[in-house]
Amino acid sequence: MKVFQHVQDIGDLRVALSEAQEVKRDRYQWQHLGKNKTALLIFFNNSLRTRLSTQKAAMNLGMNVIVLDVNQGAWKLETERGVVMDGDKSEHLLEAIPVMASYCDVIGVRSFARFESREDDYEEKILNQFIRYSGRPVFFMESATVHPLQAFADLITIEENKTKARPKVVMSWAPHPKALPQAVPNSFAEWMLAADVDFVITHPEGYELDPQFVGNARVEYDQMKAFEGADFVYAKNWSCPGVTRPEDYGKVLDDYHTMMDWCVSARQMAVTNDAHFMHCLPVRRNMIVTDDVIEGPRSLVIPEAAYREISAQVVLKRILETL
Ligand code: CP
Repeated sequence: MKVFQHVQDIGDLRVALSEAQEVKRDRYQWQHLGKNKTALLIFFNNSLRTRLSTQKAAMNLGMNVIVLDVNQGAWKLETERGVVMDGDKSEHLLEAIPVMASYCDVIGVRSFARFESREDDYEEKILNQFIRYSGRPVFFMESATVHPLQAFADLITIEENKTKARPKVVMSWAPHPKALPQAVPNSFAEWMLAADVDFVITHPEGYELDPQFVGNARVEYDQMKAFEGADFVYAKNWSCPGVTRPEDYGKVLDDYHTMMDWCVSARQMAVTNDAHFMHCLPVRRNMIVTDDVIEGPRSLVIPEAAYREISAQVVLKRILETL
């Protein structure tokens, strides 16, 4: 595997899920694969789970790991070509990428949507430069538009907890005070559509996700109706994807105080099929989900985060096997 970005990059999902099971059974059996190999994990944005789980997964495989917080201790990077660099940015990404690549065998990058231009974000301007100029396998640790390590861990979580062959999975928008990217819901939709689940998306009008990720997924604007009979509820906020009105890209469309009905609570969970609650974390309690639901017996948020180690290890293992 040279790039891990989309669900297709992992191949047959049944094979990937069975490999995840094997990793879960004994995560230290492939230490030989990573011997004398170095993973460089580059963070342009904050992280708790991705940083720790990916580092742990690499160590499970016997790799050396270097973690770089670009905003702490490195030179401030210019990302645009043609800019006269007379400001506070001392180094250009076009030199930094091959230099960083010379110290490692595999590169993971986190670089969120900047909301400056929908086109730049949806063309994955930063990550594509790593793919083009590093000469190394690149895996996405949440980019402007996707978070595949999270979606893979989410799928493993559903697989481990489902009690019927084809569970109903509902992804629900929920309120948030700040504008958040669409990477998590985009990837979750992409992976659910490739998996054997009955998938429904619910959100207020105006938050339609990009068709390249949601395809012809069922969208139900009435949240209570969408939740009926759900086996899994996946809550997430996202800002306006700008599909119908590009000028609204990255905006919070309504004052969140007026949208608090969308916060997932016992009221919505009551119409589900005793659904499990999922969220990628970090989560703002009593905005996205109430205390009682996230702390309740059907909440899967902690095992879901723990499966991030498993998803990262399957991906790194696949990459190492092709080096
Ligand atoms: N879910 C997730 O990616 O968590 P972090 O942002 O803490 O890495």
